[in-house]
Amino acid sequence: HTNADYDLSTPIDPNAIGLRQKLPGYGDAHFSLFMRKLFIKALGYSEDALSRPIVGVVNTYSSFNPCHANVPQLLDAVKRGVQLSGGLAIDFPTISLHESFSSPTSMYLRNLMSMDTEEMIQAQPVDAVVLIGGCDKTTPAQLMGGISANKPIIHLVTGPMMPGSYQGVRIGACTDCRNNWAKFRAGTLDIEDISALNEELAPTGGTCGVMGTASTMACILVALGMMPIHGATAPAVSSARLRIAESTGTHAVQLAKTQLRPQTLLTRDSFLNAITVLQAIGGSTNAIVHLMAIANRHPAVAGTITLDTVDEIGRTTPLLVDLKPSGDNYMTDFHNAGGMLALLHELKPLLHLSALTITGRTLGEDLSLTPYRPFPSTIIRPFASPLYPSSSLIVLRGNLAPGGAVMKASASKYTHLLHHRGPCVVFTSPSDMAARIDSPTLNVTPSSILLLQSIGPVGNPGMPEAGLIPIPRKLAAQGVQDMLRISDGRMSGTAGGTIILHVSPESADPSSTFGIVRDGDIIVCDATARSITLEVDDGEIRRRKAEREQRAASGTETWETRRRVRGYRGLYMREVNQAEEGADFGFLTAAGPVPGVSRAE
Ligand code: FES
Ligand code: MG
Repeated sequence: HTNADYDLSTPIDPNAIGLRQKLPGYGDAHFSLFMRKLFIKALGYSEDALSRPIVGVVNTYSSFNPCHANVPQLLDAVKRGVQLSGGLAIDFPTISLHESFSSPTSMYLRNLMSMDTEEMIQAQPVDAVVLIGGCDKTTPAQLMGGISANKPIIHLVTGPMMPGSYQGVRIGACTDCRNNWAKFRAGTLDIEDISALNEELAPTGGTCGVMGTASTMACILVALGMMPIHGATAPAVSSARLRIAESTGTHAVQLAKTQLRPQTLLTRDSFLNAITVLQAIGGSTNAIVHLMAIANRHPAVAGTITLDTVDEIGRTTPLLVDLKPSGDNYMTDFHNAGGMLALLHELKPLLHLSALTITGRTLGEDLSLTPYRPFPSTIIRPFASPLYPSSSLIVLRGNLAPGGAVMKASASKYTHLLHHRGPCVVFTSPSDMAARIDSPTLNVTPSSILLLQSIGPVGNPGMPEAGLIPIPRKLAAQGVQDMLRISDGRMSGTAGGTIILHVSPESADPSSTFGIVRDGDIIVCDATARSITLEVDDGEIRRRKAEREQRAASGTETWETRRRVRGYRGLYMREVNQAEEGADFGFLTAAGPVPGVSRAE
């Protein structure tokens, strides 16, 4: 008897489903397939199993990643879904990033994870891939890599953690981590309280339980059509989460057959939907950076979605979801209030319902086919009584940030600071800030503007989440809870306050104005006019820039010398683009190192 695969007279189709896909180059295609089969059979697979569509399942489990603690159960459930639907599920690892265990920052490693994801999807004979991720940088990294690889993909998030409790008050990572730490700094919480809180802030596995970056990206994946409608909010520890995983496996087998690829599924409209949801949930500022990076991976979308698109959509989109840090509640509350299904129904008039989803149908069709019985809720507000009328996330420009800057206006604690003119207190680096911020002699008042330089993508590789500049201790002790703060870095999606982030170009860039601001300079923020202005005349700005150039020329550490660093760090510093482009590596974008030439197949 013969096996058709080894019939030397028939050509082997490299685009076939299953093991015939993308054979390694042994010269002879039949021999390559023979080799591939003999090795995978060492794992015990039969010819029957190997004749099925192959669904790759990305395993991002790590014992350093509590946000992914449930990945082993999710893997089981996805495989069950795949196998019940006639596919063969094969899991494989990629790197795993947790916010607290990714020094210097998880953002520094996001692009590395996207490369790992893209290359492993390319390298292996998968017909579709389930991307299991959850913690902040993992879902954007997976989508960036998945779009670039352009094989059918579907996302499965690990889901949010449950809230904890301390002295009868619900608490959760990580808005309450920051609030309570600020109280401890101000002396209103003692060491016993802060230690007890530490035990309860992350009481289960899963992603941070507020509308931080992880939850924001999960909601955005639904809005983009890359994840089923119910996929975003079910708690990590719930049985619902496992059923979502099982059905994700079923969807993946369908995708393996239809070969609906992300560059086909995603259009500009999908991104407009994503930004509408981002504004309506009061989502994380980090999601803006990620969305720019994701859009710029897509040859047909790159350049058509910018910071201005985010601001424009915000002007007509109310903030409807009452979760921390903009509001008061937790992801479990959003889930119990109907989650993304209820929100998308509320947002229908603003959505592009003809955008495609992983089901192969349009978003509008998915919504009308998913059973939905509305009920009144204070967590998801109706259009008529939003939590914040519009423009939760805004984009500011001006001489201080010609490339743009971002602010989550809805998370401002003292809203008068949204329109504020004041003298700034400049910290030239995080270490300068650490050394002086709590000094009793720091020349600062509640109307000062705190400005932190050198935490941009290149200046502090990885663009740390240091933008939540702490309130100087002497002011915190007087009860000051918010001040206008500006930096070229990021802040956690779970943080709040009147905080301007992602100032571009960053201070380390020799052309930046942000890098020449000095103590006492007057800055004017006008959220309504979307402007951020340094009130220093152009002549003085030019003089300071020339002076800086001279200093750089005579110094040892210049923009250029820093770019000669070895290893991944060197690659990062040379290739990372600015925040408004997504802080991606230029050579990974759709424009690529040579504009107009995309990946050769
Ligand atoms: Fe992983 Fe917050 S640390 S989601
Ligand atoms: Mg975070």
